Amino acid sequence: MTARHALVTGAASGIGRAIALKLAEEGCFLSLCDLDGPKAEAVAEVIRAAGGSALAVAGDITKEPECRRIHSLAKKAGGPVDILVNNAGIYPASPVLETTEEMWDRVMDVNLKAVFLLSKAILPDMVEQGSGRIVNMASIDGKKPGPGNSAYSASKAAVISLTRSMAAEMAPFGIRVNAVAPGWVGTENILKGDRWKDAVKLIPIGRLAEPAEIAGVVAWLCSETAGYITGEILNVNGGMLMD
Ligand SMILES: NC(=O)c1ccc[n+]([C@@H]2O[C@H](COP(=O)([O-])OP(=O)(O)OC[C@H]3O[C@@H](n4cnc5c(N)ncnc54)[C@H](O)[C@@H]3O)[C@@H](O)[C@H]2O)c1
Repeated sequence: MTARHALVTGAASGIGRAIALKLAEEGCFLSLCDLDGPKAEAVAEVIRAAGGSALAVAGDITKEPECRRIHSLAKKAGGPVDILVNNAGIYPASPVLETTEEMWDRVMDVNLKAVFLLSKAILPDMVEQGSGRIVNMASIDGKKPGPGNSAYSASKAAVISLTRSMAAEMAPFGIRVNAVAPGWVGTENILKGDRWKDAVKLIPIGRLAEPAEIAGVVAWLCSETAGYITGEILNVNGGMLMD
């Protein structure tokens, strides 16, 4: 991989942590952004202990000045960002009738608005460089919503649409924008609940994905091998949805 600097949001845990470790293994300088600063710092330490370089930045990506601040700190430490992985997301169970306005806004802010804001902060540098890769974390729920997570599904459907708009606008500048749409992934957060136990029965492959399996796909999308792929929403769902 020729990319030198990758910025991953939600990098303190779960899928984001796995993506950060994978991209560091591929030789990137890692900027790890998360609300939870100490936890992000712990991931940075794992990367450094393995011989890599990383910066942890605590911040809330739902605010434009914060996104500019995060980008500026990252750039100062690792140079222009070559890879942006908009991974941070929240998924509170929210049947329509139980979803408060506050909950709706928070889900949209973290899952959707932050993708726009951080991309907007970083894209001018990518345009100037004439290259860049962005991978957004969508979800199977953005393609095939079920009951009980209306705000989440709507936010991820919008991420899919935003990915395609950005891909079309940015292709002439050498910037590829793709999304990954996981099914069920065995992150700590998912495994502490019970919902996955019923869900796993509906997965043709018969198990949840490992976070590292999502990370591998993200790294591949960022590699030169995927150089002709943009605007793609890649299913990584064990066969739950084939479209
Ligand atoms: N786990 C799954 O089964 C699954 C399936 C499909 C899609 N996804 C998507 O993958 C992504 C990661 O999921 P996960 O299971 O690893 O989640 P997780 O809860 O383990 O990690 C999410 C991280 O994002 C951080 N974060 C939340 N809000 C933030 C904000 N405003 N600013 C900065 N950081 C913030 C959290 O602190 C946390 O460390 C999410 O976008 C999620 O919707 C997950």
